[in-house]
Amino acid sequence: MKDKDIYILGIESSCDDTAAAVINNGVVLSNVVATQKIHEAYGGVVPELASRAHQQNIVPVVHEALRIANIDKKDVSAMAFTQGPGLMGSLLVGASFSKSFAMGMDIPLIGVNHMQAHILAHFIKTEEQKAPNFPFIALTISGGHTQLVKVTDYFEMEIIGETLDDAVGEAFDKSAKILGLPYPGGPLIDKYAQMGDPNRFPFPKPKVGPLQFSFSGLKTAVLYFIEKEVKANPNFIEENLYDICASIQYTIVDYLMDKLKNAVKKTGIREIAIGGGVSANSGIRKALREAEETLGWKTYIPKFEYCTDNAAMIAMVGELKFKQEIFSASNAMSYARMKF
Ligand code: KG4
Ligand code: ZN
Repeated sequence: MKDKDIYILGIESSCDDTAAAVINNGVVLSNVVATQKIHEAYGGVVPELASRAHQQNIVPVVHEALRIANIDKKDVSAMAFTQGPGLMGSLLVGASFSKSFAMGMDIPLIGVNHMQAHILAHFIKTEEQKAPNFPFIALTISGGHTQLVKVTDYFEMEIIGETLDDAVGEAFDKSAKILGLPYPGGPLIDKYAQMGDPNRFPFPKPKVGPLQFSFSGLKTAVLYFIEKEVKANPNFIEENLYDICASIQYTIVDYLMDKLKNAVKKTGIREIAIGGGVSANSGIRKALREAEETLGWKTYIPKFEYCTDNAAMIAMVGELKFKQEIFSASNAMSYARMKF
């Protein structure tokens, strides 16, 4: 089969986004995401509600992805789906759909590791950005993950550091919750931070191994600080919101940059690729751009729609595996935790 004839349908359902996408020769033809609004009322993802919403969304989302890509289901060469890690009830919806589709259409089934997909999203062809060169360091930062990975080839990856507790997105969201901001609060902290003084309130940076992360201490530090200040002045949050947000963001971004610098020092690699929803943060983007100038790094940030959870990245990995004939059995398991 020629590359131009390979159409991979990808499904992502590991958390609270039901997504489907079609990719052809590295080019995304459609990338549809149904974000589940229902969790906002609860201040976080409710697993049982997530799997139910996936059940409702998956068929319309796939229809829409095929319609936008302007292909028929008979044109699909292989079916790629997120095998893990993620919420089991959510993963199973995508897996069951994909297995039925692959069996019904008599096409290969390809299980994809969600974390690998966040990294390989950099190989989606776009006009804006080139793909990183091997070897590179990937920093995956989102509501569910914080990982430093040394990437030697498409499927040769080694986790060299990760969080011991919360993910970085949780640090943003939990801090935002303490400030009374709605979920997910990361984007709001970012917005307010841009109008505040980052040095006004110093927060501690947790001390763990050079390539490890820890964020639970920061959340506690923010909580105690706010409780103390609000006792003295009930309007403290409203009067200082921008400076508080700027200070929290500065602490987190500086901490991420420290870890990246440690990874560069340890590996000698200066190609840095980030991914995950927190890559949208203006602070980390600015810090990376500056590192290009001051430290001689080459940095890569995918388009926003390929940073957050999406199916285009799953289809991208599906295409790479299809070309290498790495297929899954029709009884492939789903994994809440999954290694590379
Ligand atoms: O990758 P993603 O869409 O979903 C997963 O968690 O896998 O990431 C969502 C996370 C949330 O924690 C959200 O608050 C955070 O990314 N986020 C941000 C920004 N945009 C999204 N955090 C800080 N600044 C932003 N601009
Ligand atoms: Zn993710």
